Amino acid sequence: MMKINIEANTYVYPNPVTLVGTEVEGRANFMALGWVSRVNAKPPLVGIGVNRLHFTAKGIQETKTFSINYPSADMIEVSDYCGIVSGKKVDKSNVLEFFYGYLKTAPMMTESTLCMECKLVDTIELPSNHFFIGEIIAAYTEEKYLTDGKPDIKKMNPLLLTMPDNRYWTVGEYAGKAWSIGKKLKK
Ligand SMILES: Cc1cc2nc3c(=O)[nH]c(=O)nc-3n(C[C@H](O)[C@H](O)[C@H](O)COP(=O)(O)O)c2cc1C
Repeated sequence: MMKINIEANTYVYPNPVTLVGTEVEGRANFMALGWVSRVNAKPPLVGIGVNRLHFTAKGIQETKTFSINYPSADMIEVSDYCGIVSGKKVDKSNVLEFFYGYLKTAPMMTESTLCMECKLVDTIELPSNHFFIGEIIAAYTEEKYLTDGKPDIKKMNPLLLTMPDNRYWTVGEYAGKAWSIGKKLKK
């Protein structure tokens, strides 16, 4: 098999599309974010890569809190909009309804299938981004998105992103049970 060498600026994909909620200059703001990952289990930590020029970065630094919201694929237009316009120029607090949990400065989008409110615990400075690490203080969803009490990706129908071709996708088919199917190869 012949591998070809493609550009190094290649991405881990697909990325879930998330909307990061912050309170900036006294108002709620939401930005689209693909670079999100769980980075620790206990305590539950999540990391997000946010360009230091974004309005969102200012909000997280000011309040030391943020939220991560998972839009369904039905929210594709509003999600993209939140990734095209900046809160520096446009008031994005009225794009959709939002609510607050324990942290009073981490607005969460009501229409999202899953919302997590996070307290900033660390920041790693990268050449153009802040890598903000937050502890998930609480997560919110609705009964209709759960199967056996756990978030069900098929019911949530999240929006996925591939880069660098910059295209949105929906979830495909169930392929097998993780931490299990590989046991067949154990000797
Ligand atoms: C699908 C999508 C994903 C994005 N992912 C990121 C990301 O992971 N990190 C980032 O810094 N900007 C990302 N952006 C760009 C910001 O969302 C965009 O610049 C936004 O306008 C910033 O808003 P703000 O200035 O109100 O914070 C993404 C944009 C889109 C459309």
